[in-house]
Order: sequence, then structure tokens, then C-alpha cells
Amino acid sequence: MKKHLLAATLAGLSFGAAADVNIICSVQAEWCNMISTVYARTTGTKVNVSMKGSGEALAQLIAEKENPKTDVWFGGTGDPHLQAAEQGLTIEYKSPSLPQLHEWAQQQAKQSAYKTVGIYSGPLGFGYNTELLARKKLPVPKSWADLTRPEYKGEVQVANPASSGTAYTMIATLVQLMGEDKAYDYLKSLHKNVSQYSRSGTGPIKAVARGETAVSISFVHDGPGEKMQGFPVETITPSEGTGAEIGSMSIIKGARNLDAAKKFYEWALTPAAQEMAAAAKQFQLPSNKAAKVDSRVPDFKKIKFINYDYAKYGASTERRRLIARWEKEVNSLPR
Ligand code: F6P
Repeated sequence: MKKHLLAATLAGLSFGAAADVNIICSVQAEWCNMISTVYARTTGTKVNVSMKGSGEALAQLIAEKENPKTDVWFGGTGDPHLQAAEQGLTIEYKSPSLPQLHEWAQQQAKQSAYKTVGIYSGPLGFGYNTELLARKKLPVPKSWADLTRPEYKGEVQVANPASSGTAYTMIATLVQLMGEDKAYDYLKSLHKNVSQYSRSGTGPIKAVARGETAVSISFVHDGPGEKMQGFPVETITPSEGTGAEIGSMSIIKGARNLDAAKKFYEWALTPAAQEMAAAAKQFQLPSNKAAKVDSRVPDFKKIKFINYDYAKYGASTERRRLIARWEKEVNSLPR
């Protein structure tokens, strides 16, 4: 931790002192708190952080469009960041650090005309409670198909796609994997096994950790943090294939503290800042190629991925349409 603070101090000092910066933060609280505390301490900037899931963050930015109160949106799945870019809620900013980032992170910037950028990536999969599965004599689910088996009735949790980028990534992944109508048939069968749709994407794996549910649909990088706290949590990615998020960051159009926003943005792309994720027990893959990759970060080479079409599924009309279809055809059904 000391090493991180020192590196972050040096990175921060080179920017000098700045004004306030207002951030919507869509990663987990520990990471949000760490970056805001370290950044404030090392630059003298007053950092105001509001924590919101990806879908909720987008809804807030739409609501405050005429009078923005936010300068930077840090983290959350990439699809709503792309939607914000398309809707003119965020500004073009071409960071000089772009060449230091992985291709997928640069691609996220290019396809939004530089209105967002990738800061991390992570695969979608399942979390499960090993003790609960053993006690209930349930097998570990290995595929999307397994999750709809009758023995998992009431045992699965996933978030609500209107508020959660994780859940929207699931819908977009299934549509790309199965074709749209089959994906909605699948979601209807899954619905029978879902005990609860949580607001936040990390809610379900926390419920798995506490033994409230046996299985969750979650980003697999959210598993190790729960395990480190002593909970019997493991993760797996489905055998048919899965999608990955490109966690993103954007500067808000009409930001009142534009210079401060750019300084924070640059800092957030540095290896030292990105290594704070692991220090805060978050195990996404950092977008800066020079950032150290913690051994608990999922090994992408071992996972079967679909060729996720980020541009298509980040488009406003598509995202709105798929979520509305889910509300109408799936969420309204009895269980
Ligand atoms: O912070 C953990 C995380 O899984 C991120 O990797 C992801 O971008 C975010 O949560 C999504 O949260 P939500 O599904 O609530 O929008």
C-alpha cells in the first residue's frame, strides 16, 4: 500500500494543486474511497464522490443534462458510457496516455469519438457458494443452460438491467450468443429460478458470499474480494461462451471543473492509480499496459469469449429496447 501511495503521490504532484472535482463512481465503494482519498491527499483537490451503478449513473446524467453537477464518471460498464457519448452527455477528450493503454481500451475511445475510454475489463460468469451447494447437494453450474435447470429454482440471483451494467451485459451477451428471440426465451426460463433482481450488479455475489443464495450471475473479478473476506465463494465462466465489460471513464459535458476533471482523468489512467483497484480488493484487468496485474485477476486466455459488439450494444436505441423488452416480457412474469 505504501508503494502505491508513494507512486500516486508522485503522479499527483506533477499536476499541481487543483479545484474541486465531482465524480460519479460506479465501481465498488472501497475502490471509490481509495482513489478519492489518495487523490485528494496528494493533489490538494477536494473530491466529491457519489456512488451509482452504471445504469443509475446514466439516468442521473440524463436528468442533470441542463445543469450538470458531475465532472467525471469513473467506472461502470462501457455500454452506458457509449450511450452517454452518443447522447452528447460527455465530451471528446483525447488523452496523451492513450498509446499506453491496451487495444480494447483504445478501441472504446475510438468508437465513441474519444468521449469515453476503457479503464479496466472483466469477464461475466457465475459466482457460487461452495458450502451451500454442497449442503443442498447441488452441482456447480457450468453453463448458461445449467442455470435454468429446475433444481436451481430460487437459487439464482442477478441484478436488474435497468440499474445495473452487469445485468445489461448479461442480456447483450445472451442475445449475441443465442440470437434475440432464443435469448428472451432463455431469460424467461431463468426468471423461474431467480429469487431476486438486485439494484446493484455486485449485490448477487455478496448474497452468495453471505449464503443467502447459492448462485449469482456476476463479473468473475468480483469473486476474489469476497473470498479474501473468508466467504466460501468461487467463480466460473459458462462453457457456451461469455462477454466481457470494458469498464469506462468519461468527462461530462458542461463540467464546471473541466481542468480538474482532465487532471483527475489523466491520473486515473496512470499505472499507479490503476493498481489501486487490487489494493482495494477489486480484480478487474487494468487498461494501462504498464499496470501490474494481480494474480487474482481472471486469466482471459483461459476463458471462452464471444466477439462482443460494443458499438452495437452500447447504442441508445438498442440498449433501451433490450431493457424495455426484458421489463415487458420477463420481469412482468410471475415466478
Ligand atoms: O465494481 C464492480 C463492478 O463489477 C465493475 O467491474 C462494473 O463495472 C460494475 O461493478 C458494474 O456495476 P453495476 O452492474 O451495478 O452497474
